[in-house]
Amino acid sequence: MNVLVIGGAGYIGIHTVKALLEAGHTAVVFDNLSTGHQEALARLPAPVPFIRGDVTRAEDLERAFKEHPVDAVMHFAAKSLVGESMQHPAAYYHNNVLGGVTLLECMRAHGVKTLIFSSTAAVYGEPEAVPIAEEHPLRPSSVYGRTKRMFEEMLEDYRRVYGLRYAALRYFNAAGADPGGALGEDHDPETHLIPIVLQAALGLREAVTIYGTDYDTPDGTCIRDYIHVSDLADAHVLALEVLSQGAGSGAYNLGNGSGFSVREVIETAERVVGRPIPVKEGPRRPGDPAVLVAGAEKARRELGWRPRWAELETIVRTAWEWHRAHPQGYRTARAGAPPLD
Ligand code: UFG
Repeated sequence: MNVLVIGGAGYIGIHTVKALLEAGHTAVVFDNLSTGHQEALARLPAPVPFIRGDVTRAEDLERAFKEHPVDAVMHFAAKSLVGESMQHPAAYYHNNVLGGVTLLECMRAHGVKTLIFSSTAAVYGEPEAVPIAEEHPLRPSSVYGRTKRMFEEMLEDYRRVYGLRYAALRYFNAAGADPGGALGEDHDPETHLIPIVLQAALGLREAVTIYGTDYDTPDGTCIRDYIHVSDLADAHVLALEVLSQGAGSGAYNLGNGSGFSVREVIETAERVVGRPIPVKEGPRRPGDPAVLVAGAEKARRELGWRPRWAELETIVRTAWEWHRAHPQGYRTARAGAPPLD
């Protein structure tokens, strides 16, 4: 199928473009490069057309739909930082909600009826029980989570009234890097635990600060369900294929179903890198739930999804291979800097 990938130059988007190409689909990447990296496209197994555009601008989207055949859309273009969303809600409503409806209207105008959407575990808020099933009430505790829930609600209305077919994929903690070494995580600023731990291991930052050691968990630190980015990518391809075969629309949790504490992640990283990593203990980060673990049976059952890199150690190892070879992210690739060690 011909897939238009909105936000396809970002972390999860580019891994999914690679998975699409490997599965025999074609892709066109549309990205405003606010957080994505054009350099990443050159590292794909085949050339992919690129359109620099913004999802909130109908005229940019129009170009993509006019210039390329589009059978389905994957939508990754969102602002996605919980803390920032609480400080700058307008930017989140503009990008994630207005951008979303602009995209849906463009799809409708061009008769494109299939959409795979990047949703998030943040739609659930503080869980009543873990693992969290898709039926769990959606009570997001951040603006970010609310914008994602709103778009999921829009998808359901577009399904009911206009016949949209969609899958909303609720990611837990995306982590790791392309096992082939071509692609990886490159955020500025970086806020996610695993890259921060590995940057501390590389001496690129003084230490990793543990945000809170007084949670009601066995070692006092937060527990999360880390899922390999290439496994997320596979789930998008499967969702596309299942939807095109006539499956019903809906939401799917994407996680491994097992939780690891911040301390366990750091210990795993120390094993992978083979040396101690400098750690500090700090206060809790506002808005962090103590435990988030996916009940991800539905994706396994209905999409036939089988995560291939489920072990935390494998996830951290692929991330380590990327970070030590690209300490400055894709900029390192451009400068051709040699790998460390
Ligand atoms: N953490 C630290 N120190 C750091 C960074 C993170 O202790 O320097 C902790 C956090 O407090 C959290 C865990 O490591 O307990 C994971 O934090 P991340 O920032 O890596 O990921 P989050 O769980 O906050 O965020 C993820 C997604 C978001 C999504 C959110 C849902 O990245 O998009 O889950 O809660 F909104």
